[in-house]
Amino acid sequence: MGKIIKTNISRREAIKTTGSVATSLAVAAMSMQGVYAYQSNTVQVALIGCGGRGTGAAQNALSTKSGPIKLTAMADVFEDKLKGSYDSIKKAFDKQVDVPVDRQFIGFDGYKNAMDSLKPGDVVILTTPVAFRWVMFAYAIEKGLNVFMEKPTTVDGPGTRKMLELASKSEAKNLKVGVGLMCRHCRARGELHDRIRNGEIGDITLLRAYRVAGPTGSAFVKPKPANMNELLYQIKNFHGFLWASGGAYSDFLIHNIDESCWMKDAWPISAKGYGGRHYREDYVDQNFDSYSTEFSFADGAKLILEGRYMPDCDQEFASYAHGTKGSATISAKGHWPANARMYKNQNMTTANEIWKYTKEDLNPYQLEWDALIEAIRQDKKHNECRRGAEASLVTSMGRMACHTGKIITYDEMLNCEHEFAPTVDKLTLDGPAPLVADKNGKYPIPQPGKFIRPKREYGI
Ligand SMILES: NC(=O)c1ccc[n+]([C@@H]2O[C@H](COP(=O)([O-])OP(=O)(O)OC[C@H]3O[C@@H](n4cnc5c(N)ncnc54)[C@H](O)[C@@H]3O)[C@@H](O)[C@H]2O)c1
Repeated sequence: MGKIIKTNISRREAIKTTGSVATSLAVAAMSMQGVYAYQSNTVQVALIGCGGRGTGAAQNALSTKSGPIKLTAMADVFEDKLKGSYDSIKKAFDKQVDVPVDRQFIGFDGYKNAMDSLKPGDVVILTTPVAFRWVMFAYAIEKGLNVFMEKPTTVDGPGTRKMLELASKSEAKNLKVGVGLMCRHCRARGELHDRIRNGEIGDITLLRAYRVAGPTGSAFVKPKPANMNELLYQIKNFHGFLWASGGAYSDFLIHNIDESCWMKDAWPISAKGYGGRHYREDYVDQNFDSYSTEFSFADGAKLILEGRYMPDCDQEFASYAHGTKGSATISAKGHWPANARMYKNQNMTTANEIWKYTKEDLNPYQLEWDALIEAIRQDKKHNECRRGAEASLVTSMGRMACHTGKIITYDEMLNCEHEFAPTVDKLTLDGPAPLVADKNGKYPIPQPGKFIRPKREYGI
């Protein structure tokens, strides 16, 4: 076993047990560098939001190879989700799972209990729907915990402003924060990014991105069963409700937006967009079934983004870059492998290929965890919160442009006052949901051209 590189005594204990000069030095060091950094002692992990991605993220955490790591607490609002997740993680990582029933927490306050069971410097995984992200992240910062949080991290202007403030606080505490825009850790995209920076396809003037698929996740929501709690129904079907997820647009399109903007090394300054609900049978969610957005960068370059969730149409999940000297595939056929390539002109054919990634394209979901845990153990700077909030804001800008039918600028989105769920930190099981259905069980849907003063995406 290696040594613990920083003391894990508390400030109060340090003051009680050491001489005054040594104490001041120790306390100053702790303030500057974070209280705990681990080299090879056990990192404890709590999982909050035990669904598909949370279960996967916990497994990625337990698969890191830089030292001992254990899952020690879990929280969810649904008992069956927690149990299902526990069983599958336990089956695969038996000895690394130490979550007795008294560290399994059900309910809206469970996140606090789970984080209370950790020590400063441990890691909490935030994989609930995004609505709860800032609430839980604020508590994690208070507890001095390192964090892995899934994308998107915000869905509106007020939420983004809160998240940016929290980013500053977490940076000041030297916390390590990973955000689940895992494609940023992809080696193939990373090499492509370096080559684009070297000018190998010239200046980027156009990016194109597509995530066109059939109905995805819980984006198509059937009416609420009579006997089901309204709030839990909306949480279970979170892709259908803008307060919970930012809808299909924010939840699904953010990856293409983020990887495209990465290649440009800039965020767009405005967006205009289109979309509609072509045929929705008795689905009651707030989503359009197709979206088209044109983002503009400060230098005039554009990112064209297409999103569609309709059965039996052509499907594509890919991003492309066009430069003054050539073009590139950023990703084709999903997140991984990336299939990154460059071409000598705008015709993206094998004959025109000038580069492709030939090494093994490792799983970026694992790489993002390897980087986070390595940063914790070696006390390296690692905080993706600010970038995650910016990517989320740009995504909201595109969504709002489609939903309002108006050009939305980055600054307008950031300063927008409409908050989808201002009381999300106070929700209780028997209290009201942030979104209310009409007497027919229908929820308000965006209607471009309406409800734009003050800017908001739907009435009520
Ligand atoms: N990076 C990626 O490629 C990727 C892939 C899938 C999902 N995600 C993200 O992960 C998040 C979760 O998605 P998912 O597909 O795992 O959904 P999911 O529904 O499978 O899991 C979410 C879990 O959170 C629980 N939950 C909801 N509110 C809670 C609360 N207040 N406290 C505690 N638990 C709560 C739910 O009961 C559920 O078990 C989303 O933000 C999604 O965008 C990212």
